This record gives sequence, structure tokens and C-alpha cells, in this order.
Amino acid sequence: MGQTERAWRIALMPGDGIGPEVMAATRQVLEALPEPALDLVELEWPSHAWHRRHGTMMPEDWTDRVSAFDALLLGALGDPGPASDPGRYLLPDGVSLAPLLQLRKGLDLWACERPASPLPGAPQYLADQRALETDMLVIRENSEGEYVDQGGRLAPGTPRETATQLEVFTRAGTERIIRHAFERAEQRRRERVAGLRAPRAAAAGGYDAAVCVVTKRNAVQYAGELWSDVFAEVAAEYPAVHTHHELIDACCMKFVTQPWQFDVVVASNLHGDILTDLAAVLAGGMGVAPSANVNPSDRSVPALFEPTHGSAPDIAGQDRAHPAAMMLTAAAMLEWLGADDAQAASAAVEVREAVAAEMLQYGMEGRTCSQVGTSVCERIRSSVRRG
Ligand code: IPM
Ligand code: MN
Repeated sequence: MGQTERAWRIALMPGDGIGPEVMAATRQVLEALPEPALDLVELEWPSHAWHRRHGTMMPEDWTDRVSAFDALLLGALGDPGPASDPGRYLLPDGVSLAPLLQLRKGLDLWACERPASPLPGAPQYLADQRALETDMLVIRENSEGEYVDQGGRLAPGTPRETATQLEVFTRAGTERIIRHAFERAEQRRRERVAGLRAPRAAAAGGYDAAVCVVTKRNAVQYAGELWSDVFAEVAAEYPAVHTHHELIDACCMKFVTQPWQFDVVVASNLHGDILTDLAAVLAGGMGVAPSANVNPSDRSVPALFEPTHGSAPDIAGQDRAHPAAMMLTAAAMLEWLGADDAQAASAAVEVREAVAAEMLQYGMEGRTCSQVGTSVCERIRSSVRRG
């Protein structure tokens, strides 16, 4: 779609907990952008409130309804608020968080992208100054692996009780995610060569781009070997990209001791889940970590953008949550739309720069969510005025 034809249709799904407040601040920011044209439609689902009224987190025909949109922007799901709230309507995690997995799997949003580079002004947890040069992109397989929801419990409640949990790794699913990782690495390499992205850290080994594949093939052999085989086959097609393998346990250790060594990292659903909380901390914490769920082979499927953080019920409704992660997630959405739309691509840069300037001036503490919203909008408006 080109911007001359119509506005991008965006579903805003504030969700639960801090979701509505960080979404409100982010909506203001999207509205402050002079372009691209965005048609923002706020949905009441998925949410606890919707469940209370209808008995489900989403309407039954959610697949049809979301297909009307170009992208879905989600705040947070999970526990809706502080334990002191007498009106709190609690649901098991398996119910309240299920829409995340239903959306990712139901729409076949098979790639989850979670970038991490330190955001100046956000907490810097590592003492080693080289960590400031970290610039990684973790790509998490989002459609199969450990998250297939296959298994069960035999003889529940008895001494013989047995739980089974199946992991499924297909060659097709493995190949598409690994190939996507190489495509992204190649793209980042070109950006570095063109001076559009900072060069890799001096200590990173002299490669312009690298892909690290993560497995646990020394113990979880069959899946790990399939991933390694497919990785070697695909890597042969990308001679300009350096490759390395890490076992998940060692990888966690190296994310902390030498994060600047990593560029693109590709991992299974569960390994990617674990690694991306750790990667978020390298960037400054869960409060600054964006996340994108996309289908790179079919861009007509509405992609789902959500911060990596959850609903933070302890501070929900108090205007205390920092909206940086939500705003950077909106920037990731604009960047995705920007593949076909130069206005959206430059709006993504605009939002990132405004958030970065805000962080640099005030850091993460002491400002309310709505203050940050107003201030980031003001930064965008004055940068637009300056042209
Ligand atoms: C995430 C979350 C989810 C996941 C949970 C809430 C199901 O941890 O987005 O990383 O495991 O994918
Ligand atoms: Mn997670």
C-alpha cells in the first residue's frame, strides 16, 4: 500500500494493567506525527474487562476483525491491577495471556524481533564500558518449538501423575527463521557499510555482520542438530555474514560478559523468550524494550507490536509506568510499515529520536507517564517545525 491511497489502519489494544496508560501516551505521540496518515482504532479487547462482560478475552471472530488492520499495537496483558483494588477481576495466566500466543500463532507471525542496544539515560547495569557499544537483534522463532501447546497430564493428583510437554521443530519452520536472521544481518551489514548504522564494536572481531545460532544440542540433541544443520546450509548462501554457535547456557553468560560480540542472534521460541528478558536488561531494562511479531513472507498479515514488558499490576493506574518501551514499539511498527512508505520510515526515526532525547534529559525516574507523553509529543512537534 502506498500512502497516497489511504491511511494505515492501526488497531490499538491497550489491554490490562499499565497497558492503557502507556498506550494513551503513545497514542498522543502517533497523533503528533504529521505523517504518515494513521487511522487509529482503539479496541476493548483483549482485556480483563472484555472477559468480565463476554466470558472470553477476545471475540470469537477475532481473526476476521484483525484482518481489517495493517498492524496491531498492544499495550500489555496479564493481572489488571494492584491487589488492594476491591474491584480487581482476576483470571489465570493461561486465560489472560493466551491472546498473545493466539495472535502470534493464529496469524502465523513466525518471527519475533527484539533489538537491544543501550539507551543513554536508561539504567546501565553492566560496569564494563564496552557494553555501551552493544547493538544486537534477537530473533525468536514464534510459531512452534516449545510453545506448541501439545502434551497433557496423566492421572492428575495421584502419585503416578505424569506431565508430558512436546517440543516440535519442523525443517520449514527452522529454515524460515534462520533465513530471516541472515536477511536481517545482511541488511544491517549494508546499513553499516552505508554509514546508516554505527559500525560494530571494536572488540567484536572485525566482522560487519554476524549471526549467532543458539541451541542446547549437547543435551537436547535432535532439535539442536536440526537447527545446526539448517543453519550451516543457509549460512552458505550468505558469505559476507560471519557465523557462530552458542549453547543457550553459555549464551546467557556471554550476553552479560561480552554482549558487544553479538549482532543478530537466532533462537527457538523458549530460548528466545529467555534471552530477550536478558537482552532487555542490556538496553536499560524491561521499561525500554520493544518487540515485534511479524510474518516476513506475507506482509499482508497484520503484524503485532507489543513491548516485552508485562502489565506491572503493582503500579497500574498510578501514572507511574514509563512509556518508553511502548513508544519504541510504536516506532518498530512504523519501521515495519516503512518498508513500503518513506513517511512511515522517517516517522519511526522521529519517534526514536524524541524518546532518546527525553531519556537523555530526564532518565527513567521521577516523571509521570503522562508527562513523558506530553514532552515527547512536544519534542516531535518542535523537530517538525524546525524541519
Ligand atoms: C513474552 C512473554 C510471553 C512469552 C508470555 C507472557 C506468554 O514472556 O512476550 O516474552 O512467553 O512469549
Ligand atoms: Mn518473555
